[in-house]
Amino acid sequence: MLTINNLPKLSVQNLSSVKDLTKADVMSIIEVANLFKKNNKEKNKNIPILNGRTIINLFFEPSTRTLISFEVAAKRLGADMINMNIEGSSLRKGETLIDTADTLNAMNPDLVIIRHGSSGSIEEISSRLKCPIISAGEGTEEHPTQALLDAYTIQDNQKKFEEITVSICGDIEHSRVARSNYHLLKKMGSKIRFVTPDYFKPKDLDSFDVEYFDNLELGIESADIVMMLRIQKERINDVNLPSIDEYFKHFGLTHKKLTNAKKDVLVMHPGPINRNIEIESSLADDLDKSVINEQVENGVAVRMACLAVMVK
Ligand code: CP
Repeated sequence: MLTINNLPKLSVQNLSSVKDLTKADVMSIIEVANLFKKNNKEKNKNIPILNGRTIINLFFEPSTRTLISFEVAAKRLGADMINMNIEGSSLRKGETLIDTADTLNAMNPDLVIIRHGSSGSIEEISSRLKCPIISAGEGTEEHPTQALLDAYTIQDNQKKFEEITVSICGDIEHSRVARSNYHLLKKMGSKIRFVTPDYFKPKDLDSFDVEYFDNLELGIESADIVMMLRIQKERINDVNLPSIDEYFKHFGLTHKKLTNAKKDVLVMHPGPINRNIEIESSLADDLDKSVINEQVENGVAVRMACLAVMVK
């Protein structure tokens, strides 16, 4: 039986892409997260199995959920957590990523968590670091722990991966969450649909084994999971966007449109949400349908699981 004293090992040293994980790795993380989720509801939430370990958060892009949940996760496991302030760091004096990695190496961290806006930057830093890394989101490429916490949330709501249809809807072209969820849920046996207006259709659509829809009502028909995405304005410079009203009319998820999906559909969103742009405000708050807050809660347990199995 799985216990805190008997945790499984992953087949990988670093968590930079869900493509590297085996199905067994994914199930191990889900099972370990289950142990922590129960304890996260107790008054004393600490399980100090990482006492004396040092973990560094290195975030080059803004974050609320991922940054704070990694910090909460590390502290509940008893590790010392350092949030490096990029704006106040010597990177702003011209220090390179490689020299930053060498500087961190000299302080002997046990794991570094990295978010970066450019593809390849996490590989550049991690190839120099002497400890494991976890990607907290990289450009439009991947957000592995988001996909893991989404998979956990799906399973925690009694859905079986190999029996479900997941409609991923909105700005897929610029979304690392869409890519990580596609690769992870496909690996677990789910059917995936991409539902997106033409201007957000991924340029490499042919490389994905999905059903493609450019109409939201049709794209969520009989879906078990509807995963909404925000418009990633910070990554968009070549798209003429419609007005907010026009976008919401065609691609905003509402209670009315959701009647096309299965009756027990789960509405998911990685956050941050933009109310009344990609999702009707009252639907985001409707706890009969929306598991958005559950996703955040599960994020702590899943990140505790990742740290617990990856820190040596
Ligand atoms: N879902 C997610 O990555 O949110 P943050 O940007 O707030 O971390």
